[in-house]
Amino acid sequence: VTDRCNMRCFYCMPKEGIAKQGHAAVLSYEELLLIAETAIDLGIEKIRITGGEPLVRAGIIGFLEKLSAIPGLHHLAISTNGLLLAGMAADLHAAGVQRLNVSLDSLDPATFAEITRGGDLKRVLDGLDAAERAGFPPPKINCVIMRGANDAEILAFAEMTRERGNSVRFIEYMPTLRSGNGENLTVPGKTILDRIGQRYRISPLERESLAGPAKLFRIDGAAGDIGVITPISGHFCGECNRIRVTATGTARGCLFAGSGVELKPFLDTGDEAGLGEALRGLVARKPARHLLAAAEQHHAPFAMSAIGG
Ligand code: 5AD
Ligand code: SF4
Repeated sequence: VTDRCNMRCFYCMPKEGIAKQGHAAVLSYEELLLIAETAIDLGIEKIRITGGEPLVRAGIIGFLEKLSAIPGLHHLAISTNGLLLAGMAADLHAAGVQRLNVSLDSLDPATFAEITRGGDLKRVLDGLDAAERAGFPPPKINCVIMRGANDAEILAFAEMTRERGNSVRFIEYMPTLRSGNGENLTVPGKTILDRIGQRYRISPLERESLAGPAKLFRIDGAAGDIGVITPISGHFCGECNRIRVTATGTARGCLFAGSGVELKPFLDTGDEAGLGEALRGLVARKPARHLLAAAEQHHAPFAMSAIGG
């Protein structure tokens, strides 16, 4: 819903931020609702709202109310950095959002501020508490593990699944900005699991339907589960069932697909049949796999904030 963000995580955005899309280029809520209705008519059952930071877009609660009311939508989730969550959790819950994913890469205030270039950890932790008070299940935590930055905190995050009941998704760092040191930062999912396994007994879990790309495990007796998302060491492209729409209406079958399909022309002319065909074609042409870990990278550098992760 937006390419803007109130943080500047170093692995996601360059320091200076990215050129913002003008308001005229960003799809209106009416346009986004039409895309959602069309996708749901075609059989899409789950929608995840992302940004940038989705909670910074004005009017987001009203939009979510309308979105959650569309018949046939079974799952509505949001990925947020949590900075604004404390003040918005109750409204999000009332608007029909079912699940929150909160990006959280460090439990240490100084490390958190470094990774996010100035973010305030306390606000995010307050947001997690507010979400539960508002009636949400414990938010899912997205944690991008980076060698030398936060890999010493793997066990601390794993412990959140026992102590707070959050599910935690450990994500391999992807060199999306192609800043050169990608290989050095990525900690393979297997290493992450080994470290947890040295301390706790963990068992694999079944994939749920409509599940994301994580391989799931649980520490014996923990309420939350542990997921590892391994775009680099073991791509899961064959199981990926997602399509993505940017804030300006480019639809992509893959994060790393250089080009996408522009939905704006169909929206401008009210061509709902064309819109449906475009979405259907995107699914049909989903690439077999990405080439992110190949010796030669083919994708153009991009800020994750422009596509939503
Ligand atoms: N590698 C891995 N994950 C990333 N994210 C953003 N950029 C990257 C990257 N380069 C994650 C964010 C957020 C999710 C939407 O995508 O941390 O949790
Ligand atoms: Fe913002 Fe999320 Fe990117 Fe961090 S990872 S800069 S919170 S969009």
